Amino acid sequence: MKIVVENLTKKIKKINVLQSVNVEMESGNIYGLKGKNGSGKTMFMRALCGLILPTAGSIKIDGKVLGKDMSFPESLGMMIENPAFLPNLTGLDNLKLLASIKKTIGQTEIQSAMQKIGLDPDDKRKYRKYSLGMKQRLGIACSIMENPQLLVLDEPFNALDSTGEKLLKEILNDMKSMDTLIVLSCHDKETLETLSDEIISVEQGRFFHEDSAQK
Ligand SMILES: Nc1ncnc2c1ncn2[C@@H]1O[C@H](COP(=O)(O)OP(=O)(O)OP(=O)(O)O)[C@@H](O)[C@H]1O
Ligand SMILES: [Mg+2]
Repeated sequence: MKIVVENLTKKIKKINVLQSVNVEMESGNIYGLKGKNGSGKTMFMRALCGLILPTAGSIKIDGKVLGKDMSFPESLGMMIENPAFLPNLTGLDNLKLLASIKKTIGQTEIQSAMQKIGLDPDDKRKYRKYSLGMKQRLGIACSIMENPQLLVLDEPFNALDSTGEKLLKEILNDMKSMDTLIVLSCHDKETLETLSDEIISVEQGRFFHEDSAQK
């Protein structure tokens, strides 16, 4: 898969939250977004997932224009800001419900995604009784369970303990080796630099590419 972002601009209330962003991304790579609070990382990820439409410019995925030729990327896993699930269902039942939309996976794949991030699929607790880190883990399990070709994770390390952090790093490296295109944001410089093939610095809605060879 190849994503080509050309002159992507998003204006909200006269402010350019994304300004002429140009970037090319290819399968099998991890792209790390770094930048201050409010710089535009989440906004870019929303645009990439088809959740907001550009004011100008375009996002092409394998030549197809997002928002024109298709509403959403075809094979997408994402977690943007905080995950949200139904409070009165267990983790497994929440994921089963979401998997029933596309029907590309069964219970085995769902259970395996939960186990990869250290959640017990047989845990009978309802989502509302989950701790913060467990909620985050369920969001991660949800984003990876359908084995997407494009994985967009907005600060996925938030609230994870050191075990969760280690498991997530393993998952990301595994998916990368399976040719997934991963876009990630993270405020921890070292984590981002270790994982990413390319670091993109976001400043006031503009993208600056850092040469990974210099990191
Ligand atoms: N719903 C919204 N309506 C209007 N402006 C918004 C909205 N959400 C975000 N913004 C603005 O868009 C800009 C970029 O925000 P964004 O959430 O992308 O930042 P970020 O880089 O993800 O920051 P953080 O590190 O805090 O998560 C900011 O100026 C913010 O105020
Ligand atoms: Mg953000």
